[in-house]
Formats: sequence, structure tokens, C-alpha cells
Amino acid sequence: MTHHDIGLTVNGTEHELSVEPRTLLAHALRDELGYTGTNVGCETTMCGACTVLLDGDAVKSCTVLAVQADGTEVETVEGLSDDGEFHPLQESFQKEHGLQCGYCTPGMMMTALDFLEDNPDPDDAEIREALEGNICRCTGYQNILNAVKSAADNMGGTSEAD
Ligand code: FES
Ligand code: FES
Repeated sequence: MTHHDIGLTVNGTEHELSVEPRTLLAHALRDELGYTGTNVGCETTMCGACTVLLDGDAVKSCTVLAVQADGTEVETVEGLSDDGEFHPLQESFQKEHGLQCGYCTPGMMMTALDFLEDNPDPDDAEIREALEGNICRCTGYQNILNAVKSAADNMGGTSEAD
């Protein structure tokens, strides 16, 4: 099959790779570049486990062809920590027990990151709405909600976790 040469900047590192036209961004990140923190659950845009930031916006990377992402900046969960220091979102998910089995957690965090940049002081309803496209099969959503509230506080907002 024909391959296409594309360039992606992932977490600040430039990569050049050759992909088939059908290759999904999620698979390019995981299988070609080794960013396996981006999980694949459904490949049908339902679960959100594959969520990454594409030029700053949260997208489900199972819904984007790798060729469509040519020339973009991608941020994955691996880009959250800084020199071994957890991002406030990671700290909050740990502290509030928001990562249960953890499979959905990278997508939850990337969705929350985009959301909190737009809405640094959200209420519960706004957090629930923001995360409605991310499914946690552990169904322990309260801890995830608490984690995002706590992260909002740590990132400069004023809401308080229960
Ligand atoms: S794997 Fe992309 S939304 Fe489920
Ligand atoms: S933590 Fe288990 S699916 Fe979300």
C-alpha cells in the first residue's frame, strides 16, 4: 500500500514517519512512535481513551487520520510531567484516587487539560459535561470529578474538592 511521509511534533519532539493512508493518529502515536500512554478502547469515538491535544485542542485520536495530523503539534499524557515532576492533573488523579484501573485516565487528563485552560474555575456540572465523552468502565466517576476539581484549584482556580 502507498505510504505517506508526515511530520508530527509530539510533546515538543519532532518526528518524521511514513504511514499508510488508513493509519489512525492513535496507532501512529502508539505503534510507530511508542507513545503508548494514548490508549485505544473503541476506535469509534465513544470512549475517549485515545484523547490527545492536537494544536492545543482535545481530540479523539482514533477519529483523526495520521496524514491529517501532518505538521501539527500533538501533546500526549507523556508530555504532562516536567522533568519527573507530576503535572497538577496527575497529582490530583493520584491524590483523589481518580485513576482506578487507569485505562481511561490519559484521555480523561487530556480532556481535562483542554477544558481547564478554557474554564479554570468550573462547577461540578461543567466538569461532568466536559468529561461526558470519556467513559470510565470502572464507573467511579466521583473520584475523577474530585480529581479535576482539585486540579483546577492547583492550577489556579478556586473551586474546592469535596
Ligand atoms: S479509542 Fe478513540 S474514542 Fe475510544
Ligand atoms: S479507571 Fe478504569 S476505566 Fe477508567
